[in-house]
Amino acid sequence: MSASEVVLSVAGLAKNFGGLHAVRGVDFHVDKGAIVGLIGPNGAGKTTTFNMIAGELPPSSGKITLNGEDITGQRTDVLYHKGLMRTFQLSHEYARMTSLENLMVAAPDQTGESIWSSWFTNGRVKKREAEVIELARDTLEFLGLTHVGEELAGNLSGGQKKLLEIGRTMMNDSKVVLLDEPGAGVNPTLMRKVAEMIEQLNEERGYTFCIIEHDMDMIARLCGKVVVLAEGQVLMEGTMDEVRNDERVIDAYFGGEVV
Ligand SMILES: Nc1ncnc2c1ncn2[C@@H]1O[C@H](COP(=O)(O)OP(=O)(O)O)[C@@H](O)[C@H]1O
Ligand SMILES: [Mg+2]
Repeated sequence: MSASEVVLSVAGLAKNFGGLHAVRGVDFHVDKGAIVGLIGPNGAGKTTTFNMIAGELPPSSGKITLNGEDITGQRTDVLYHKGLMRTFQLSHEYARMTSLENLMVAAPDQTGESIWSSWFTNGRVKKREAEVIELARDTLEFLGLTHVGEELAGNLSGGQKKLLEIGRTMMNDSKVVLLDEPGAGVNPTLMRKVAEMIEQLNEERGYTFCIIEHDMDMIARLCGKVVVLAEGQVLMEGTMDEVRNDERVIDAYFGGEVV
């Protein structure tokens, strides 16, 4: 495997919260076009790892690389323009905006200009707005959410909100997407739908995913490689079959106090 196939890597990544060592020297990489699972018991440091990769938390130490570039400590908005986006364990929708509007505000401002110059180039802004509306409509259709496009996002079901989160990453055409528990609070029917969307984005649009998820069926279905975190460290990585039969993993989930 050549180095150019690695799209995202973390090396020696660590985060301390005061005396608490939440993440202690984590190494793993995600190949271009892969769907990698990040699993482990509650409190293992999974979300904290995502927070550091996505630019929400500065690491205490370690290095994060995106397409070969050192992105350690770069801000969320900078990473957004580099095509890296994440979704949240608890959906972050704007409750008082419609589903369509929620997608529209996730689109990048391609003019890169200030509001003042936009005022002088009104025609161009109008054109961009029309493009964004069209993209948002297409995205709703892809997600099967057209019927709730004009609904306030706060009124959507848990599963629909999760789909909308995935839709926000599509508005930016993010090529590297971190999903934090896309299946949490989602009913089994929509769960299959969420998994299908992820597969489709991966196969048809070449998205690379790293997914935190407790639903092992979803991980088994989607992920070629699974990285297991426990107590802030990588316990092992391998295929789902290798992971599910490993004594250390069974111990981490059921042997300790945390389940
Ligand atoms: N902002 C924070 N301040 C202090 N402690 C935190 C913070 N975020 C997470 N932690 C702690 O770090 C550990 C790892 O948390 P987290 O990354 O959320 O685990 P996971 O997502 O694997 O369940 C936990 O002990 C948690 O309480
Ligand atoms: Mg978490």
